[in-house]
Amino acid sequence: MSDAPGGPSVAFWQERFESGSTPWDRGEPNPALAPLLARGIVPAGARVLVPGCGAGHEVALLAAAGYRTIAVDYAPAAVELTRARLTQAGLQAEVIEADLLAWAPAAPLDAIWDQACLAALHPDLWVAYAQRLASWLAPGGTLMLMAVQAERDSRREGRIEGPPYHCDVNAMRALFPSPQWHWPRPPYARHGRPGGVAELALILKRAGG
Ligand SMILES: C[S@@+](CC[C@H](N)C(=O)[O-])C[C@H]1O[C@@H](n2cnc3c(N)ncnc32)[C@H](O)[C@@H]1O
Repeated sequence: MSDAPGGPSVAFWQERFESGSTPWDRGEPNPALAPLLARGIVPAGARVLVPGCGAGHEVALLAAAGYRTIAVDYAPAAVELTRARLTQAGLQAEVIEADLLAWAPAAPLDAIWDQACLAALHPDLWVAYAQRLASWLAPGGTLMLMAVQAERDSRREGRIEGPPYHCDVNAMRALFPSPQWHWPRPPYARHGRPGGVAELALILKRAGG
């Protein structure tokens, strides 16, 4: 397993689901997703990955919208919840129990919806994770990164606390650098999240399309 020393483990996430302690879960799809899809930034029928899918609300929305949807999570409870949600709605998606730091898709992806997955990984894993996202996306593919804004006072004392880990926009620019990634001009849309934190909607295109 790829967990960083001091970072959350699969057992940590599994326990959160089993105890119902999932304050990040909106109980419905992120309200930002449907309007983004309506803008046509992801082509119809595209292969879309939801890494760290949790309870699978966005997986169901993407599958219902006709995307070839792949969901990955390493917590068995998250996989079960996502599969149950799809079955209940009569929807199809590929739901895989795997560590994102060890898994790879069978074919290039057209888009990735990362909602609180990067923020769930210890920052020691960010470079490796970002490199994997870049290698999984087809040239011209879209990364929809909901970058959790979880700044804490303890950062001033040099401590790294999470999850969620704070996804500072400048850290994101270094992680997904131009010109390999096309960045729209700021400012970026800021949405509320459950648990009192916010997220920045960073819609990045992988170069080469
Ligand atoms: C904060 S939750 C977010 C869930 C969902 N995206 C949402 O916003 O409701 C983070 C999720 O990422 C999963 N996760 C964390 N690290 C992972 C890894 N290395 N591989 C696969 N899944 C991981 C956890 O099991 C958990 O379901």
